[in-house]
Amino acid sequence: MCGIVGYVGPKEAWPILISGLKRLEYRGYDSAGVAIMGDKGLQVSKCKGRVADLEAHVGKKGLKGTVGIGHTRWATHGEPNDVNAHPHTSANGELALIHNGIIENYATLKEELIKRGYVFRSETDTEVLVHLIDDIQRTEGTDLAESVRLALLNVVGAYAIVVVDAKSPDMLVAARKSSPLVIGIGNDGDHFLASDATPIVEHTRNVVYMEDGEIAIIEKEKGLRVRNIKNQELRPSVQALEIQLETLEKGGYDHFMLKEINEQPRSIRDSMRGRLNIAGSEVVLGGIKDYEQKFVNAKRILVVGCGTSWHAGMVGEYLFEEFARIPVEVEYASEFRYRDPVINEDDIVIAISQSGETADTLAAIELAKSRGATIIGICNVVGSSIARITHAGSYTHAGPEIGVASTKAFTAQVTLLTLMALMIGHRKGTIDGARFQQLLLELDAIPAKVERVLKTEAQIKYIAEIYKDARNALYLGRGYCFPVALEGALKLKEISYIHAEGYPAAEMKHGPIALIDEEMPVFVIATQGASYEKVVSNIQEVKARKGKVIAIVTEGDTVVKAIADHTIEIPASPDALVPLLAVVPLQLISYHIAVMRGCNVDQPRNLAKSVTVE
Ligand code: M6R
Repeated sequence: MCGIVGYVGPKEAWPILISGLKRLEYRGYDSAGVAIMGDKGLQVSKCKGRVADLEAHVGKKGLKGTVGIGHTRWATHGEPNDVNAHPHTSANGELALIHNGIIENYATLKEELIKRGYVFRSETDTEVLVHLIDDIQRTEGTDLAESVRLALLNVVGAYAIVVVDAKSPDMLVAARKSSPLVIGIGNDGDHFLASDATPIVEHTRNVVYMEDGEIAIIEKEKGLRVRNIKNQELRPSVQALEIQLETLEKGGYDHFMLKEINEQPRSIRDSMRGRLNIAGSEVVLGGIKDYEQKFVNAKRILVVGCGTSWHAGMVGEYLFEEFARIPVEVEYASEFRYRDPVINEDDIVIAISQSGETADTLAAIELAKSRGATIIGICNVVGSSIARITHAGSYTHAGPEIGVASTKAFTAQVTLLTLMALMIGHRKGTIDGARFQQLLLELDAIPAKVERVLKTEAQIKYIAEIYKDARNALYLGRGYCFPVALEGALKLKEISYIHAEGYPAAEMKHGPIALIDEEMPVFVIATQGASYEKVVSNIQEVKARKGKVIAIVTEGDTVVKAIADHTIEIPASPDALVPLLAVVPLQLISYHIAVMRGCNVDQPRNLAKSVTVE
């Protein structure tokens, strides 16, 4: 939600800020703006629309100056328009500020500032911050860094902010609480700021991940200083970035989503690399090694996540119950955090998040941690907030996922959950040695099988053409494939804006069957496994009501082929591993339908990749 960038150094800031904003556009894309210190003071330009609109608005020459900030917005307070776009400025135009997060007590602060004579131009919560800092500078006579610190003592909410002040033209001040901020330390005495490392990696690999409650002061001459909210100086810890630049490009594909779907044979393989030891008949997850015994003793596992990560967690529930015989509860992080959940010290909480920044998941972790549970993270983004606040965890190693619709992150999360469940089951002795070894071999074969599934794309495109104008769609699956049905429905609705629902196949007769007529496409995962015959009966029930059935079946299936309108074959696999294969055609069908409908696949309306507000 919102991307922010900053630059201080010897180079022109404009091209650095614009290319940084383009990298962060997946975080929000309804308006964009920059503020750059020029010879004659602060120059601010902002407008509704995308970063490209901002470039067109400013013109080819850009803005001159070597210190600046930039923002790409996902609106929370106030509609997307030129006025609500960031940066927000003080009345005299000397201060400019960008913000990612939500100021919860903005109404109270605004009321007080209005009484003190401040005039508000926007409908945003952010504008209070710039007037508050301005007010403190005037009344206390403090410098920019101290004024920011004093202002933040009055603020309730989440923020990553960067402020520039014409009175201190060579300086940026940044602060974070619950919203991410990374500082890049360049080789030419320059410093970069960004919501994540993707805009920084092309300039430097040395970064500092800001922690909650920290304030960074970056000056051309003095470089970087970090303080906490109590004004104590801190020593920043510099880390090396491992992202490869080419992973941030489309690499010849029309969209990031299509690239990421096609990357899955590689990303699943990378999730298993060094962890799946077939010769030694073991699974090694170094990141959670110290917590293995806790897992073995656990009476219960709680899984928290949102969206696609929550769906992966549901697959995890089946995996842990089958292989490790540990009861699992899968919770929407947003619900869990506001209940009064019963959490025990011997509970394990698995927190799943691609971005590692999802506000609800972070809050759920804090709650469970405060009650003594052990928190294990499954994150994709290295160094992200969730990766840092969990007790231990494993990275998915899927590589940067830029498309807003999550694809390769899902299969990587499920791969890790499979490894974890198998490892714990093996340690507990709840899975016998021969079956364990067989499953390791089957897991190892998954990347090659995904490659085979990807070859069905032409057929999937043909099916997409037939159903692209549908107004509704139903997704059905049972057992391990129920979460896959949910994920298929989420993919379709978020990028094509077709209403879609996922259901456990047998639940259909308890309500959704009323929706079925000749207009309704029903996607059914009907692979040969434990509930195959039952699902075949469900397909018959749909056909009896003239619904159109698109079934994902096991290669060589003849039974479903005879009754469904279309079938897409996937290679045979044990039930527990079918989600890794069955989800791929559903991702592709959503992608092609969305493209055919002319939708913006990588940046669907109203959405953002990283949901850092609750
Ligand atoms: O970064 P996270 O995995 O925590 O994000 C959770 C959801 O916001 C995310 O999965 C969302 O539902 C995606 N748009 C799904 O494609």
